[in-house]
Amino acid sequence: MFYSKVPRLFILACFLLCVLVSYTTFYLYHHVPPAYPTASPHSPPDHDLNLDLDLGPPKVVQNIGGNVFEPVPIVTEARPIEPTAAATTTDSPAAAPSPPTAPVAGDDADEDLESGGLYGSERPNGHLTGIEGQSPHTPQPWTTPEEAEAQLQKPLLLPVPSECPKELQFMMQASVDQGLTESVRYTRRRIRPVFSSKVDRNAVPTIPETLLRGETEVDLWDCWDATVRELPPIKVEVPKPYAERSYEHFVFGIASDYNRLNDSIQPFSHWLSGSGAKLVGVVTDARDLMPGDIHRLEQAFHAADINATMVTPIDEKFTTSQNHFTVLIDMLEHSGPETQWFGLLDDDTFFPSLRPLSDSLATLDHNVDAYVGALSEDFQAVRLFGFMAFGGAGAYLSPSLAKKLGDNALKCIEEATHPEGDIIIRDCVYTNSKAKLTILPGLWQQDMKHDASGFFEAGYRPINLHHWKSWYHVPVEQMATAADFCGDCFLQRWRLGDDTLLANGFSITTYRDGLLDQLDLDLVEGTWERAGRDYDFSVGPLRPQLDPDDKHSYLLRAARLDEATGELRQVYVRENNPDMGELDEVVELIWERR
Ligand SMILES: *[C@@H]1O[C@H](CO)[C@@H](O)[C@H](O)[C@H]1NC(C)=O
Ligand SMILES: *[C@@H]1O[C@H](CO)[C@@H](O)[C@H](O)[C@H]1NC(C)=O
Repeated sequence: MFYSKVPRLFILACFLLCVLVSYTTFYLYHHVPPAYPTASPHSPPDHDLNLDLDLGPPKVVQNIGGNVFEPVPIVTEARPIEPTAAATTTDSPAAAPSPPTAPVAGDDADEDLESGGLYGSERPNGHLTGIEGQSPHTPQPWTTPEEAEAQLQKPLLLPVPSECPKELQFMMQASVDQGLTESVRYTRRRIRPVFSSKVDRNAVPTIPETLLRGETEVDLWDCWDATVRELPPIKVEVPKPYAERSYEHFVFGIASDYNRLNDSIQPFSHWLSGSGAKLVGVVTDARDLMPGDIHRLEQAFHAADINATMVTPIDEKFTTSQNHFTVLIDMLEHSGPETQWFGLLDDDTFFPSLRPLSDSLATLDHNVDAYVGALSEDFQAVRLFGFMAFGGAGAYLSPSLAKKLGDNALKCIEEATHPEGDIIIRDCVYTNSKAKLTILPGLWQQDMKHDASGFFEAGYRPINLHHWKSWYHVPVEQMATAADFCGDCFLQRWRLGDDTLLANGFSITTYRDGLLDQLDLDLVEGTWERAGRDYDFSVGPLRPQLDPDDKHSYLLRAARLDEATGELRQVYVRENNPDMGELDEVVELIWERR
């Protein structure tokens, strides 16, 4: 793997030297350096080496040894380039950013892929992510030979997705971002959804078609002539997409520090943007901030089309947990006659869609005192903290109860038996009303550490997810793109062929010969830490965790619903052992226009 990089680095070294010489020539003698021939028999025919980036003369394109390099803008003075303007104003393939700029700039997919990067950080050597310390959006203008040399010390090159055939570009963007082996074993299948209102979501239909066939090896560094065999699409029956709807009957509240609130904007926007629901956030470290910071944070939420209000704690001395409760006071202020539910959430509570929450709460009466939520799945946590709405699943209060709690908020903080936010809420409910906890099936605290795959492959229809960026790591936004495409089909399961299970939006799993026939797919595989008797009351009975040899999983890393084509693309990845010379595997499912 290392050896294949050597020629590229060498070529880059030559290239940079030429650039330096040209640049020096220009700078010293004030005339344009001689042009270098750029024709190459290996250039992709449609590759347009047009240098219309508006970055000032001169620009040089070098083409050595059949490798096509993207145009590198040379700046004539040592001044910082506006990071976004210069590096990302690239719409045509020819203007794609070159090293050391980002491989995915200029495409809206890079935002979609961000949370998927959670996986990428712990990769062993031999992968593409050896770019530590390199700020992808900040090209460095070279001023001195020393600096140019310093640039050479870093591995600068990444594959450029725009050089691939169009059909491969999304897979490429996903792979580049995730640090996969330089070549991957790639399978692409088209899925033809049949929308129906009669889908039995608990069934695991068997589809005779084999999902994983037609594999091709694709060199991510040299993909322009890669071809993938088209196979007939696979038909699956899925529920209808959720109809657009306004959720103005919700007011949500969170309390967290500035950075975590900022980090929440993107995942929250998946379910909150343009929904009509309101969000109130207490910025717990407000007193450490600069004037204007809170306003800027609020603006960032607004820019994401979230109707958010950011407020300071009502008492500087309050802890984050206490603010988690007192946010209710601000939520009441921002509520109206349309408000039916006050949802107190953790900053890592995630809804694949608001629709199931809204539908489930609609089965309850919001005109009486109502306190709704879910216990931890771990009975040890229930023993420890008690019978209450655990924070990650959210505590949902009807307006009359919310008002009672708001009126007594400061007293409740003083009298709470424990300083945790969800315990203060519980105690305050029990001391100020006769409301008791209503457990709403589908809400999850997700007290599951390390490997939550058993949960995601169990056929559940979770209203919410939690702990996805701490106890375990999954790219929830990418996963939940399925819910945008076909609603309740998120995590729906199908058996394909003899040995493969698709859990839509989470994984494709192939099982050892004959094993899938023996598994009881109604039972949850106990994959997480301490999965055992303490989970019986919530998700049991469990089936034992399978041996890694029995089960090969491809996990969803990236997804995009293309507004123009109506297609949903999902990229599932299996990382193999590069030390054994194994290539990583990528499966792309293309769900046809709905
Ligand atoms: C807020 O988050 C965005 C990414 O979503 C990041 O670019 C920005 O720097 C963050 N702002 C602060 C002040 O941390
Ligand atoms: C946010 O909510 C308030 C109160 O309901 C409403 O007046 C306002 O129009 C909303 N803003 C946006 C941008 O939706």
